[in-house]
Amino acid sequence: MIDETTGALPVEGVPAARVLDEIRALRAADRPTHGGRLFAYVYDPGVAGLDELAQAAYAESAHVNGLDPTAFPSLLAMENALVGAAARLLGGGPGTSAPDVVGSVTSGGTESLILAVKAARDARPDLTEPRIVVPVSGHAAFAKAAHYLRVALDPVPVDPVTLRPAPADVAAAIRPETVLVVASAPSYAHGVVDPVAEIAAVAAAAGVRCHVDACFGGWTLPWLRRLGAPVPPFDFAVPGVTSISVDLHKYAYAPKGVSVLLHRDPGLRAPQFFAYGDWPGYTMVNPVIASTRSGGPIAAAYATLRHLGEDGYLRLAAVTRDAVAGLADAVRAVDGLRLLAEPESTVVCFTADDPGLDLFVLVDELTARGWHPQPQLAYAGLPASVHLTVTAAVAPRVAEFGPALAEAAAATRAAGPVVLPPELLALAGSLAPEALTPDLIAGFAAGLGLGAGPAPDRMAAVNTLLQAAPVRLRERLLVEFVGLLQRPTW
Ligand SMILES: Cc1ncc(COP(=O)(O)O)c(C=O)c1O
Repeated sequence: MIDETTGALPVEGVPAARVLDEIRALRAADRPTHGGRLFAYVYDPGVAGLDELAQAAYAESAHVNGLDPTAFPSLLAMENALVGAAARLLGGGPGTSAPDVVGSVTSGGTESLILAVKAARDARPDLTEPRIVVPVSGHAAFAKAAHYLRVALDPVPVDPVTLRPAPADVAAAIRPETVLVVASAPSYAHGVVDPVAEIAAVAAAAGVRCHVDACFGGWTLPWLRRLGAPVPPFDFAVPGVTSISVDLHKYAYAPKGVSVLLHRDPGLRAPQFFAYGDWPGYTMVNPVIASTRSGGPIAAAYATLRHLGEDGYLRLAAVTRDAVAGLADAVRAVDGLRLLAEPESTVVCFTADDPGLDLFVLVDELTARGWHPQPQLAYAGLPASVHLTVTAAVAPRVAEFGPALAEAAAATRAAGPVVLPPELLALAGSLAPEALTPDLIAGFAAGLGLGAGPAPDRMAAVNTLLQAAPVRLRERLLVEFVGLLQRPTW
């Protein structure tokens, strides 16, 4: 049934104030982006006035187009300034061992990683089957890059205790067709910094590029180091590191849509670009994937960096470091919970040693109490875990988190582990993704309370089912579930 008064295109336009009210009403169902209780997706410094500044800067440049830097020099100036700031923070620029560093502003970490892989691939046109070496703890965006760019992925296992790849395993995975070796600083899932110096050395010895994915930690590790934390070398100070990505929409606290991809020199960056003149329109030249790009995110990031400054970021890093320590203590205080790794950046990641403490139920219990951690499924010998991305806004909440976690753990024990019908579990464990029919998918979705509309409040059953499924089936089920959510409204 089509209602012509609702939806994105009503027959008669709606007054501005009402439209905004409607958006605010829709937002009420979202996770809270502010307030320090959301441990994924959103990076909140909790700095008064920063949102307003970023929004004003965004509005100023929202209609500016990054397609042509000569038409909009304001954007070029801000992009170059952002690249300069990121390079300086990460061991590049005048007076360093990487004086010729260059970079591009992209829309996010995924785009930066795709472009790092593209640059490495296109630097070797002689290879018909290029490959990249990525520790299994590397971000999934490398797999996406490999898939999009038809590059083979050679995964390297991580040690179940340190959660890091062994440099010898990285070296062994390098083949004549390898175009890129990857290290994380830190990994998203566990927040541990790979042995970058050793990995870069084996890459350099093989004549292969080495990308450091500092999308998550590139804007915190340098400040933590200045505060005295024992941060291992991970940036351009390390010989053999050829490119680094750092997301400004993470710990630089800029609104979404900004990451920086740095290369040690212009020659390394050159194959990242795409130019095309073989059509009747303008000759296109794109340093990044998108062509038309809004200046909004770039101006907002520029305003955020200039307003916070080094002193601001240093202060926020100190606050975040203390919050991480407080949350880790809260985890240690609960019987049956165990930190998967000692926090060395801004992630707290824990697992449960006690089968009576079902982590997926615990996540639901925390969510019911207004806290929003991120569940991580068991994978490749690593146990299921709970991930907390900690930002500065969490600091004032730390004292409340301990009691909430203890209470949620008690409720989890009382509720007991998720029990799914054995036949459903058996099906999930044995079904080949190709055998999934629309009926089976609908059956799974109905059984789990998924369908059109918001996800159910409690996700433990969904997570338990996904965990029981082999990885390829997990992926396929999630694709189908999201496909069910993404349906037009009329
Ligand atoms: C280490 C790392 N790399 C890459 C990404 C991908 O970034 P984005 O979600 O901005 O595409 C993330 C996101 O969390 C990350 O933590």
